[in-house]
Amino acid sequence: QVYITKIKQLLKSNNAVLIAHYYTDPEIQALAEATGGFVGDSLEMARFGNQHSATTLIVCGVRFMGESAKILTPEKKVLMPTLEAECSLDLGCPVDAFTAFCDQHPDHTVVVYANTSAAVKARADWVVTSSIALEIIDHLDSEGCKIIWGPDRHLGGYIQKQTGAEMLLWQGECIVHDEFSAQALKQMKHLHPDAAILVHPESPASVVALADAVGSTSQLIKAATTLPQTKLIVATDKGIFFKMQQMVPNKELIEAPTAGAGATCRSCAHCPWMAMNGLKAIYTALAEGGQQHEIFVDEAIRVKSLVPLNRMLDFAA
Ligand code: MLT
Repeated sequence: QVYITKIKQLLKSNNAVLIAHYYTDPEIQALAEATGGFVGDSLEMARFGNQHSATTLIVCGVRFMGESAKILTPEKKVLMPTLEAECSLDLGCPVDAFTAFCDQHPDHTVVVYANTSAAVKARADWVVTSSIALEIIDHLDSEGCKIIWGPDRHLGGYIQKQTGAEMLLWQGECIVHDEFSAQALKQMKHLHPDAAILVHPESPASVVALADAVGSTSQLIKAATTLPQTKLIVATDKGIFFKMQQMVPNKELIEAPTAGAGATCRSCAHCPWMAMNGLKAIYTALAEGGQQHEIFVDEAIRVKSLVPLNRMLDFAA
C-alpha cells in the first residue's frame, strides 16, 4: 500500500502512465487500471503508448515491449521496472544468426514476431503480434510471398497449417507455452468433461489440437465471453486470469496443466521475467530512473525497425 500511494504521486508529478501486459501480476494490472493507464497485449500496448499524451511511459512487461514503445515514440522517456525482464523468444533469436538465416533466402519476406530485439526487427520486412499474425501471413500468402518466420516455431507451424503459406521457421519457443502437455490436458478434460479448452498458439501442436478456441491473449479473453461453457481450461500464462475473470465473473477458470507440474516445471505457466514487474521496482523506476530502468535504442536501428513495426500498425488500423 505504501508503494501504491507513492507510485500514484510519482505518476502525476512525472506526467507518466503505466502500461501493463496481461501476463503481469494482478496487483500491477489493477494499478495500471486504477491510475488511468492500460492493460493489454503487446499490439495494444504499443498503440496506447503511441497515442497517449504522457511524456513518460512505464512499460510493465518484458524488454521487447519497452523497446517497441521507444521505437514508436523516441521523444518520450520509456522506463521499465527492470531491464532484466527478458523473453525466451527474444533470447533464442540472436541477430547475427537470424541475419545469416535470412541472407541464405533472399527471395523470402522476413516476418518477425514482436517478441524480438530491435536489431532483429530492423532486419525484418514485417513485425507481427499473435493477435494479427494470421491475417498478415494470409495477406502475404495471397500476394505470392514466400516467408521466413521467426522466432516461435509453434505459432509459425500453427499459422502455416491455417493459411497453407510457404514458410521457413526459426526454431524458437516460449518457455511458458512450450510446457503445456497434451497428455495432462486430456486427463484434466476427463475430470471436467463440460469445460471448454482455450489455448494460445505458442503451445505445442498436440495441445492446440485439443482446443475449442485458439488465439492470442485478447482473442482468448474474447472467446471466454462468447463460449457457452461456464467452465474454462486455459492454456496460457496465468497472468491472464485477472482480466479474464473480470470479463466472466460467473465462469470457473482452470489453469491448464504443464508437463512437469510442481517442482520440475520451468515456468509453471507464469513467465519468470513478467513476474519481475513488482510494485517496488515500479516505484524505483519512477523515483530514480536512470540507466537501470530507461530504455534506449540505437538511432540507426530504431529508424530501420520502425518501418516493419509501422507496417503492422497500419495493417491493423
Ligand atoms: C502479445 O502479443 O502480447 C503476446 O504474444 C501474448 C498475446 O497477446 O497473445
